[in-house]
Amino acid sequence: MPLNIAILVSGRGSNMSAILDAIKAGRLDAQVKMVLSNNPEAQGLNIARSHGIHAGAIDHKGLKREEHEKKMLGLLCSMEIDFVVLAGYMRVLTPAFLAPFKAASGDRQYFKIINIHPSMLPDFPGAHAYDDAFAAGVAKSGITVHLIDELVDHGPILAQESFDRLPADTLDDFKARGLAVEHKLYPAVLQRISQEGIDAILQSSPSRDLHPAEAAG
Ligand code: GRF
Repeated sequence: MPLNIAILVSGRGSNMSAILDAIKAGRLDAQVKMVLSNNPEAQGLNIARSHGIHAGAIDHKGLKREEHEKKMLGLLCSMEIDFVVLAGYMRVLTPAFLAPFKAASGDRQYFKIINIHPSMLPDFPGAHAYDDAFAAGVAKSGITVHLIDELVDHGPILAQESFDRLPADTLDDFKARGLAVEHKLYPAVLQRISQEGIDAILQSSPSRDLHPAEAAG
């Protein structure tokens, strides 16, 4: 059974593209039911349409956050999906948005919403992770795929992969190296969920509900 997903984008949509390409190439057993954006100008919407995927936007401008989320939920909850996949969706989601996606794995509760973040969380949360990591002078950074919770860039980690920052790197070089990792890692994690199920991944995750650094501390 393919994994049924809806993808949320706000801009460029390169991670969404990587997911669609992986499906097309048979590397990911998933079906994208819909691509949804808060930004009618998002490039990702046109890319999705060029793949024949139903794609639309609910502009957040002029709407209160709760109104916008309600409209987004109206669409997302009208279809059968296993996971919401955030791919550069630049809006903070409130607990009201998360609630319909609440699920349980044994005695653990989680939300069926996945995010990709361009740092080794818990390092460098926030909207400018590449810039922040680069400015901090890291020799290595990484990419995190995680389930989201009520906190920003937080929740059970599903996978992390590091990449080097080379001495001659410009910020653009650094971002490009990270993005290449994103484009491999996101489809691979989704394929693992599709094949093994989220329960198996959560149960094998040593960090349980915490980020590794918190678990260690
Ligand atoms: C990516 O770097 C992703 O990790 C972050 O936002 C960016 C989105 O890029 N959450 P794209 O729209 O997928 O090209």
